Amino acid sequence: MNKKKTHISLLFLIALITAGQVKAQSLKSVINKAFENAEQQSLLMAKKYENQQGRFPRSFEGGKDTSSDSRWWCSGFFPGSLWYLYENNKNEEVLKYAKLYTDRVEREKYTTDNHDVGFMLYCSFGNGLRITGEERYKEVLLTGAKSLATRYDANVGLIRSWDHNTAVWQYPVIIDNLMNLELMLWAANYSKDESFKKIAISHADKSLVHHFRPDYSSYHVVSYDKKTGVPHKKQTHQGAADDSAWSRGQSWGLYGYTYLYRETKDKRYLEQAKHIANFLINHPQMPKDFIPYWDYNAPQIPNTTRDASAATVMASALIELSDFVDAKLKKKYMQVVDKQIRTLASDEYTAKLGENGDFILKHSTGAFPFKSEIDAPLTYADYYYLEALTRLKKRL
Ligand code: GLY
Repeated sequence: MNKKKTHISLLFLIALITAGQVKAQSLKSVINKAFENAEQQSLLMAKKYENQQGRFPRSFEGGKDTSSDSRWWCSGFFPGSLWYLYENNKNEEVLKYAKLYTDRVEREKYTTDNHDVGFMLYCSFGNGLRITGEERYKEVLLTGAKSLATRYDANVGLIRSWDHNTAVWQYPVIIDNLMNLELMLWAANYSKDESFKKIAISHADKSLVHHFRPDYSSYHVVSYDKKTGVPHKKQTHQGAADDSAWSRGQSWGLYGYTYLYRETKDKRYLEQAKHIANFLINHPQMPKDFIPYWDYNAPQIPNTTRDASAATVMASALIELSDFVDAKLKKKYMQVVDKQIRTLASDEYTAKLGENGDFILKHSTGAFPFKSEIDAPLTYADYYYLEALTRLKKRL
């Protein structure tokens, strides 16, 4: 090779390397900017509810804020978001609010009338414990896990989700319930009481058998016969139809089996998560930016709303799942995540400071069939977005 040719090849190589770095840097700067914006926006939110005793942000609909008390299944998400923001930037003001809103959730450690204890406590106290090591939080989490365990019926082998609609459902379990098992696994590790783990594993295993269809999409609600422990109904609640793939439910399943593999190293959970990921990524109705419509089978597609929360839960799960798969699959998952994060961080999804009721993200869908929180911000979209940003930043 002559000198001139060597020179051109070298320049070409340098250009290639630089282009790669620019792309990597630019995702890093997307993440940093997203965090900066989220911190400012969330401080506005934290101040807004500071003196509203026991209240939490819920959504922003028709130009109006909606809020809840700690009983709403989402009460742990705003404190959890503050924990992720504190973990990122160590801002003392954010820490003050993370503690304040976390304490507001404490009474839910006695919740025994629904399954959402895991969502409420693990996102708030769980993150608080992970980040600060605060001793007091351990008792709250353990008491919460004991409360959740009261909803386990050994005859059925699952944690019961809801107590309503008993005329139709004998023992309803929803796909979302997989998310509560992380608290049970934490309690087993902490207390060395294996019964928490047995409950979690039994729930995960029975869900694996009964909640999924042959294509690895999932039903929303499976109700079990109380005597036999066999499903007697498979239906939807928030989806388009009983046999449709409600988007957030699919993401809950993906997230659930991903962390179940992390915690147990049971290969069946890893395979399940990979199958769910495959179903979602290759779904014909998945938009190019990988922000799903509210249901993959919504009859109105493309003239219907997206669900940013389904995208943030999926992104966060895929980032973790990419740690457990081969290089080819990892690349595929991270390309999807790259698209999702860049889209969510763009003006299309990220609200301007002080707008959108002080929520970070726009365009989620809470419960379409109930005309509730449609194309609205939601605390869990913001929470899993910040979790995804945190997970991504640690891996760059
Ligand atoms: N866990 C309730 C929901 O995802 O809407």
